[in-house]
Amino acid sequence: MRSTGFFLASPSRQSMVMVVVVLLAAIKSTAAAQLSQNYYASTCPNVETLVRGAVTKKLQETFNAAPGTLRLFFHDCFVRGCDASVLLAGPDDEHSAGPDATLSPDALDLITRAKAAVDGDPQCSNKVSCADILALATRDVVSQAGGPNYQVELGRLDGKVATRAIVKHSLPGASFNLDQLNKLFAANGLTQTDMIALSGGHTIGVTHCDKFVRRLYTFKGSSAASRGPPMNLVFLRQMRQTCPLNYSPSAFAMLDAVTPTKFDNGYFQTLQQMKGLLASDQVLFADRRSRATVNYFAANQTAFFDAFVAAMTKLGRIGIKTAADGEIRRVCTKVN
Ligand code: HEM
Ligand SMILES: *[C@@H]1O[C@H](CO)[C@@H](O)[C@H](O)[C@H]1NC(C)=O
Repeated sequence: MRSTGFFLASPSRQSMVMVVVVLLAAIKSTAAAQLSQNYYASTCPNVETLVRGAVTKKLQETFNAAPGTLRLFFHDCFVRGCDASVLLAGPDDEHSAGPDATLSPDALDLITRAKAAVDGDPQCSNKVSCADILALATRDVVSQAGGPNYQVELGRLDGKVATRAIVKHSLPGASFNLDQLNKLFAANGLTQTDMIALSGGHTIGVTHCDKFVRRLYTFKGSSAASRGPPMNLVFLRQMRQTCPLNYSPSAFAMLDAVTPTKFDNGYFQTLQQMKGLLASDQVLFADRRSRATVNYFAANQTAFFDAFVAAMTKLGRIGIKTAADGEIRRVCTKVN
């Protein structure tokens, strides 16, 4: 099934998409069996402590690394699977393409430092993959920002290729509606509930004006509908000050207007208050098919945390590389 012949036999775009989905499902089912929580028990028993130490130190310097790292992990997993391909630098690097161009330099720095901390232990040197370090660091930024602490499955290998060209259509867009969101997440083996819980990652971090300015003004030639779901009017006026028509490219606002730097269920309350900045966020409350889940997570943080952990675990199983197509990188930005 993985032969190129199969691709050649399916020339239409539609069937290509189907092949990719089927392929992804096939990779996923074999991959889940290979991951385990104690994968490094004999090769690097201190790996969790080493990564956590690097995360704590970086977050003391800048909180930005917390949302940055969470987003980095999501983008890594959705583009070619959780294989640290997002970290590779070079002519075909992913992290300067499309939505990845706004990935956080602080997050990339955090992973470099966590890798150095792990390799600084002689027992661990070159034994832990960059993909696993990213998965562990992500858990640590979430828990240190106030979110759930959870066991991370380990045993991912690092991919040997990055591909700029697939970044854009592998990731969701800020103007996606519920059907578009569900379709992309389903192609990655995730349910609507998983998608809503993972969108709760927007409980920390920022979005730049270009991602939501269309929601603040009606531009010539664009319909009122292109502004997306309705926004709280007082908040809308505030956001017009943050993002005037001649906004600066560096201007931004917090994704969770309620508790912007705490990993909690404030994001879902933000949506209830019609203060979601991205159309793809506010649509989760606007669409009747997803509103009940938003209300449930807004009312019950434990339920959100449980669903988030379950969905992160599934996210972390996407497209795992095996010895045939993976390795443990010595330097996270370069294949060996
Ligand atoms: C559901 C579809 C999603 C869309 C359309 C989306 C889109 C975006 C956009 C446009 C930004 C702002 C980028 C910028 O202006 O710099 C952003 C930021 C962010 N996203 Fe998402 N995202 C989605 C899902 C997720 C998921 C599943 C996670 C993780 C579980 C996540 C984590 C984050 C975080 C933490 C930030 C803030 C980054 C920072 O402050 O450095 N997002 N997202
Ligand atoms: C909140 O969710 C948790 C986990 O799903 C559940 O055990 C608990 O009963 C819920 N609490 C309320 C008040 O509904």
